[in-house]
Amino acid sequence: MTTRANPFSLMNTIVMTGGTSGLGEVAARRFIQTANTRLLLGTRGRGPPGAETLPLDLMRLENVRTFASAADRELGSAQINALVLNAGLLFPNDDTRSADGFEAAFAVNHLAHYLLLRLLLPRLAQGATVILTTSGTHDPAEKTIIGFIIAPPLHADARFLAHPERDPNRDPHPSIAGGRTYSSSKLGVGEQRSSYGTRSITALMESSRIWKVSCLKECVRP
Ligand SMILES: NC(=O)c1ccc[n+]([C@@H]2O[C@H](COP(=O)([O-])OP(=O)(O)OC[C@H]3O[C@@H](n4cnc5c(N)ncnc54)[C@H](OP(=O)(O)O)[C@@H]3O)[C@@H](O)[C@H]2O)c1
Repeated sequence: MTTRANPFSLMNTIVMTGGTSGLGEVAARRFIQTANTRLLLGTRGRGPPGAETLPLDLMRLENVRTFASAADRELGSAQINALVLNAGLLFPNDDTRSADGFEAAFAVNHLAHYLLLRLLLPRLAQGATVILTTSGTHDPAEKTIIGFIIAPPLHADARFLAHPERDPNRDPHPSIAGGRTYSSSKLGVGEQRSSYGTRSITALMESSRIWKVSCLKECVRP
């Protein structure tokens, strides 16, 4: 009996979120055009032609777990060479809540990606690249144009980022509070990088200031 070779076994495998629009879509199209590269995209809708897609709603942590299991099955024996965690949202205030009851920007931009990284960690190839798209808005020192519009973080306390209504320093202006939730949601990149640095993960696009996120692991357990 002959065994059919897995056509993906010698390919570079990229798993990605946020590849359906904006800069992520541009990147996804480039990945698809790159020789010897397989792209597996988590999305709520359709991906660009040539991408394999699996349903993923980062607003629901249970769905993140379902996606990770499906990706695990879909990948077979292939390891992940690059994990691109690019999906991101900005809300006009801090009133929206995820399915799990957490502030939505923090839930999608940060918690869901943190969980996904933890779940897929065993699938990463040695020396794999993990890209977490952050934003200059979290660091007022960067003085980006958008940084003047979106308020910088006041702290990185995950208990208050997950539940802004409990934050004694919550900004009374909805748009400022919404901006802070977005910029704060981008803070944990440094935390994730430092936590997994020993696994040969390279985090790109991170900004320079690293704040300690105090109780991340209490919000999300893999
Ligand atoms: N645009 C900027 O000026 C700017 C500046 C600094 C940093 N960034 C960061 O760069 C990244 C991309 O920004 P962009 O403006 O290019 O994005 P975008 O065009 O608004 O696209 C957002 C992406 O996130 C995905 N997404 C949103 N909510 C999701 C959910 N609940 N579950 C799964 N996927 C979800 C969307 O996928 P589906 O809707 O198809 O599921 C889409 O592919 C974000 O992390 C953003 O914070 C952007």
